Amino acid sequence: MTSNGKPLLEVDGLVMRYQTKRGQVSAIEDVTFTLHHGESLGLVGESGCGKTSVAMSLMGLAADNARYMSGEIRLEGENLLALNEDEMRRRRWKSISMVFQGAMNSWNPVYRVGDQIREAMDLHIQPKLSEAAAKSRMARLFEMVGLNPSMLVRFPHEFSGGMRQRAVIAMALSCDPKLIIADEPTTALDVIVQDQILKELKKIQDQLGMALIYISHDIAVIAEVTDTIGVMYAGKLVEYGSTLEVFHRPRHPYAYLLLSSTPSITGPRRKLAPLEGEPPNLLDPPPGCRFHPRCPFVTDQCRTEDPPFVDIAPGHKVACWNWQQVPVTIGASA
Ligand SMILES: Nc1ncnc2c1ncn2[C@@H]1O[C@H](COP(=O)(O)OP(=O)(O)O)[C@@H](O)[C@H]1O
Ligand code: SF4
Ligand SMILES: [Mg+2]
Repeated sequence: MTSNGKPLLEVDGLVMRYQTKRGQVSAIEDVTFTLHHGESLGLVGESGCGKTSVAMSLMGLAADNARYMSGEIRLEGENLLALNEDEMRRRRWKSISMVFQGAMNSWNPVYRVGDQIREAMDLHIQPKLSEAAAKSRMARLFEMVGLNPSMLVRFPHEFSGGMRQRAVIAMALSCDPKLIIADEPTTALDVIVQDQILKELKKIQDQLGMALIYISHDIAVIAEVTDTIGVMYAGKLVEYGSTLEVFHRPRHPYAYLLLSSTPSITGPRRKLAPLEGEPPNLLDPPPGCRFHPRCPFVTDQCRTEDPPFVDIAPGHKVACWNWQQVPVTIGASA
């Protein structure tokens, strides 16, 4: 997976809170994970669990009211949180790039798509590419994401939603990043286009050998493109392991319920318990295990003591006092 054995990315005990007039929003609470070169990680969880906050933190683009209380984000050993904006700007897009949530709607309507990609490349690639080199690079990128290079001279309104999203992916690839983060990149698209783009993204990732963090609220989508899955709940990472393990044998109650309430895309799934209730307000998260008000496996300990995130098998971590009580599910038939 890696040339020198050193991880590409280490998120280590990260705690981030948004400061608001109503108090602190506990959006990232002690999140720890490691990503190696070329690896693909899926981050999954309900809306509001902190997925975008983690992604924006990796990019050094969290909102102004974000405060890092502790922890580190290390890219090839270097703590990004210790860099100033200038140093971070030099790494952004080249080392880590991102397809933002809703990005397909952020094209400037009055400029040709190719010119907008060219502008991004000029800003981030030093020395600037020649006209010819830039053109051939953009054509290659378009082909890679399944767009005809002739579309480069077209305006955004001449693209369908799926095509606009493909062009966003081309733009994110333009500086040849080591890691690309895709935040709900296909959520707004219809299922067929979504599936095509997913497959293409996976293919590109394999071809280019870059690492991918794929964010979605849909665990079935995540399972299609990733080697590893991280399940987030209320700002915490509650399960982390190989896609095979987490998708087919989730050990955390939340992951288990999330899966059981996801219709299978590959075949019939055994009927399991439904996921009831709403995620907590992160201005005032529940004490103990944040999932306890919704958890069918809750015990007294859960209400007061936060379970540590521990290895339950090599490479498989869970934060739950009672993970052994969770039935071993037979996931999708595939
Ligand atoms: N700038 C902000 N100020 C205050 N709260 C925020 C801000 N951005 C996000 N939040 C809150 O942080 C939590 C995590 O949000 P987010 O990272 O967007 O989750 P997700 O991407 O999983 O939907 C949510 O409770 C959200 O309302
Ligand atoms: S620690 Fe307790 S409440 Fe939390 S997920 Fe595990 S069993 Fe449920
Ligand atoms: Mg989000």
